[in-house]
Amino acid sequence: MINDTPPEMTEPGIDDDAEAVRREAGAGESSRASRGWWDRNADEYLLEHGAFLGDARFTWCPEGLDEAEARLLGDHAALRGARVLEIGAGAAQCSRWLADQGALPVALDLSHRMLQHARRIDEQSARTPVPLVEADATVLPFADASFDLACSAYGAVPFAADTARLMREVHRVLKPGARWVFSVTHPIRWAFPDEPGVEGLTATTSYFDRTPYVEQDESGAAVYVEHHRTLGDRVRELALAGFRLIDLVEPEWPEGLTSEWGGWSPLRGRRLPGTAVFVCVRD
Ligand SMILES: C[S@@+](CC[C@H](N)C(=O)[O-])C[C@H]1O[C@@H](n2cnc3c(N)ncnc32)[C@H](O)[C@@H]1O
Repeated sequence: MINDTPPEMTEPGIDDDAEAVRREAGAGESSRASRGWWDRNADEYLLEHGAFLGDARFTWCPEGLDEAEARLLGDHAALRGARVLEIGAGAAQCSRWLADQGALPVALDLSHRMLQHARRIDEQSARTPVPLVEADATVLPFADASFDLACSAYGAVPFAADTARLMREVHRVLKPGARWVFSVTHPIRWAFPDEPGVEGLTATTSYFDRTPYVEQDESGAAVYVEHHRTLGDRVRELALAGFRLIDLVEPEWPEGLTSEWGGWSPLRGRRLPGTAVFVCVRD
């Protein structure tokens, strides 16, 4: 559990010299890289995206799909009193929205700095603090069948090497019949440069190449890792873990949204899906 002094928003990201390569990266190296990257870059990330994310909004993606309207978590009336696990929660914005619906969220994240920001937002807004847990999503520190719902908005799944294990862990901590809803970069984007302009519209690499994207320092140690699964891989992984996929949402770029988020832009969003939201039920 996190109970630190809230941070000042001062730390710059420090990975500008990292070299981008495609190479294997195992579970330990990926986890270390993610923790370090999000710790170093949390301040900058929240300065850039904090206003879009809001303090207590549940947005699934840069396309701005909002849970208040999308209702991918099921009947919102059922959220009252529900124990919800948010995985890769960052500054716990989604968990705060869930708490506002009467749910009992727990916000889990690998990054201590991100969780410090979660605590800062709670304290600045004088809210009841969201319970925070610092842990890796592939080793969940909870008893079997302890949650009624699990969710993740771009948290953990794109960064973990062993997502089959992550899915099994989520399955283990959920009660039978519970939903697991998570958003990730749409797998098709893997084949395209992560650029918001026209250069991001031409496929330059294979969608079928699962070799991770790694940024490494001068010693060759990974400082940032993303892992790719094709749509088929993801569906099989979910089925093997014991989930039933009941919807796959590909949010369209909305009219009037002009802001960019990294490689997500109106130009690309009108032609290519940028996000996939998997809506699953634990058997
Ligand atoms: C893009 S942020 C998503 C959080 C929030 N929904 C947002 O939009 O800011 C990704 C988060 O996943 C966390 N994360 C990455 N790998 C993780 C892992 N293996 N276990 C738990 N959290 C992880 C990062 O620390 C980061 O806070």
